[in-house]
Amino acid sequence: MDQIIVTGNGQLSGQIPIAGAKNACLTLMPATLLSEEPLTLTNAPRLSDIRTMTTLLQSLGAEVQALQDGQVLAMSSHDLTSTRADYDIVRKMRASILVLGPLLARFGHAEVSLPGGCAIGARPVDLHLKAFEAMGAELDLRDGYVHAKAPAGGLKGGIVDFPFVSVGATENALMAATLAKGTTVLRNAAREPEIVDLAQCLRKMGAQIDGEGTSEITIQGVDRLGGATHRVVTDRIELGTYMLAPAICGGEVECLGGKIELLAAFCEKLDAAGISVEETLTGLKVARKNGRVSAVDVTTEPFPGFPTDLQAQMMALLCTAEGTSVLEEKIFENRFMHAPELIRMGAKIDVHGGTATVQGVDRLRGAPVMATDLRASVSLILAGLAAEGETIVSRVYHLDRGYEHVVRKLESVGAKIERVKEQ
Ligand code: EPZ
Repeated sequence: MDQIIVTGNGQLSGQIPIAGAKNACLTLMPATLLSEEPLTLTNAPRLSDIRTMTTLLQSLGAEVQALQDGQVLAMSSHDLTSTRADYDIVRKMRASILVLGPLLARFGHAEVSLPGGCAIGARPVDLHLKAFEAMGAELDLRDGYVHAKAPAGGLKGGIVDFPFVSVGATENALMAATLAKGTTVLRNAAREPEIVDLAQCLRKMGAQIDGEGTSEITIQGVDRLGGATHRVVTDRIELGTYMLAPAICGGEVECLGGKIELLAAFCEKLDAAGISVEETLTGLKVARKNGRVSAVDVTTEPFPGFPTDLQAQMMALLCTAEGTSVLEEKIFENRFMHAPELIRMGAKIDVHGGTATVQGVDRLRGAPVMATDLRASVSLILAGLAAEGETIVSRVYHLDRGYEHVVRKLESVGAKIERVKEQ
């Protein structure tokens, strides 16, 4: 397994291009299953999760061609051969469950392996299933699979009241509802930019959707959907991650393609911590205002709140802030696994349940550390950028799921970082 070696060596400066959003692409790709016509995605990120979704769609008989070095995904589900998503693929990536809604809506049945949990939590799919039941589907959970069956005439429009916000369940229900007979209303729907991006793509395919980006989305089902070409929205989590590099190291970096509207709550916290964010014609320019970063409290919430996917990275910044910060993780039950690794680097962090209290220290010290999940792995790299000496991050395969060319992007703004085979 590869390792990434980071050496703290001073300020950063330059530009980092931000890729298309992994979490938008992972819901846009299954949308191809809704139509016989071709769906082409541009600005697609080059990530292992995208390759996993490609393999899953191909296992169903869909055509997926990665063009222009993987930045364009040309897909067609004209000749599907299966409506069964096997465990051996689904277990690799939870987002695989997002093929269930489209298959059920277009073919009236589907068998999809339950995704199982992951490092950050149990991550059930009960809200996804509740939505399909509200559209008339019968769901049978057996031998580790969801066996879903639509009524004889197909899914029917219905009211879906989500007891709490779920990004994936909103996406699955939104896709299924586009072909249901009648009107579907999703209440307490997720408002993430990735949901808005999906709705815009489905509308290009002929779907009738109103209210995306608000907590109530109304969908008028249609008989069939056509094809489309759609540009994947900028990845706000990659954006926020790289905005933290100059915040932690000092200097000034422009994140190309960034917009404040994707990360308003996060930018407010950066401002409170003493980091300046300026929207330019080409992206977001980030610099530390003066001296040391100030401690701030953070609570993760569904969009438009502070994103849970940036909690680990923000903790890396706050480890060397002046004062004590309290981070509350309200979305997942086990998302502080980066804390023990940061403590190995000299951080002072106290974790009790969903709350982490971080007492700022002057400087972290490089150490061998281990990546445990996608966002934790990049928080260790951020911490290593400003630590004294060398940080060796192992199990970096987690990184490849969500960050393309992380070494190249950080090297380009002056970071001392390299990827090596495990010694
Ligand atoms: C999406 O996961 C993202 N993944 C996650 O990003 C992100 O952290 C999460 O949304 C929250 O923003 C993709 O988009 C592929 P949820 P998702 O359904 O849809 C519970 C990353 O690092 N829940 O909004 O799975 C769930 O356990 C990943 O890129 C149920 O209980 O998240 C969690 O505690 C990590 N039952 C909470 O709700 C359900 O049926 C929010 O989950 C569904 C979810």
